[in-house]
Amino acid sequence: MAGRVQLDVVTLFPAWFDWFRSQRHVMAALAAGNDLRTLDLREHTPLSGGQVDDTPYGGGAGMVLRVDVMDAALRAFYGEDPVQLRTQRRVIALTPGGRLLDDRFVDELAGEPEITLLCGRYEGFDERIVQHFATDAVSIGHYVLAGGELAAMVVADAVMRKLPGALGHAGSALEESFSVALEGRPEYPHYTRPAEYRGWKVPGVLLSGHHEEIRSWRRQRSRERSAPST
Ligand code: ADE
Repeated sequence: MAGRVQLDVVTLFPAWFDWFRSQRHVMAALAAGNDLRTLDLREHTPLSGGQVDDTPYGGGAGMVLRVDVMDAALRAFYGEDPVQLRTQRRVIALTPGGRLLDDRFVDELAGEPEITLLCGRYEGFDERIVQHFATDAVSIGHYVLAGGELAAMVVADAVMRKLPGALGHAGSALEESFSVALEGRPEYPHYTRPAEYRGWKVPGVLLSGHHEEIRSWRRQRSRERSAPST
C-alpha cells in the first residue's frame, strides 16, 4: 500500500523538474509529506569543464554517460558507495531498453519509501551504471527520447498520483485503467453533463441511480475495450 515516498531524480537538467513540482497533484503529494529532489550530475563531476559523457568504445554515433561521473554524483549526494545504495533504496535507470512501465510496477513503486531515478542523455548510460548502481531498468515505451527526464516525470507522475492526498478523490486511483480492481483492463467510459448534447445521449443506465446496474454496465464496457498491450 502507498505510504510516503522520497523521490530523487539524477539529471543534467534539474530545472525541468521545477515546472513538474508546481503541478497541482504533485504539489498536493509534496504537501502531504512526500518529497521530490533533484541531483545535478554536472555539479559533482570529477572531470574538468563539467564533462559527464564520452564517446562510445567500439565507435558509433553519440555520447555515453560515464560511470565514474554517476558514481561521484551518487556518492556526493548520499554519502555512500552506490553499489551499497541500491541495497537500501530503489534505484531506477530510465532507458528505452528497460522493462516496460505498467500499472502494477507503478503500484509497487508507490509502496517504496525511497526511489532514485537516473536519467540518461545522448546515447544513454555506460552499461555499468545499470549493472552496478541500479535495481531496475525501466522504459516508458518503444521509442527513444532525447533523455530520461520526461520518462522520469512519467514515472514520478504515475507514482505520485497514487499517493494519499495527491488526488481529490481517494477512490479515483483505485478503479482506473489497468488497475487490479479492473482486472488489468482499460477503464470504462465516463460521461458528465449535459445528459444530451447535439443529440448524443449519455447511456440511460448511468442516469438511472441503480448502483448495481451501473457497476455491471461499467464492468461490461471495460471488458469490451481491448486488453492492455504488453
Ligand atoms: N530514455 C530515452 N528513451 C527512453 C524511454 N523510451 N523510456 C525510458 N527512458 C528513456
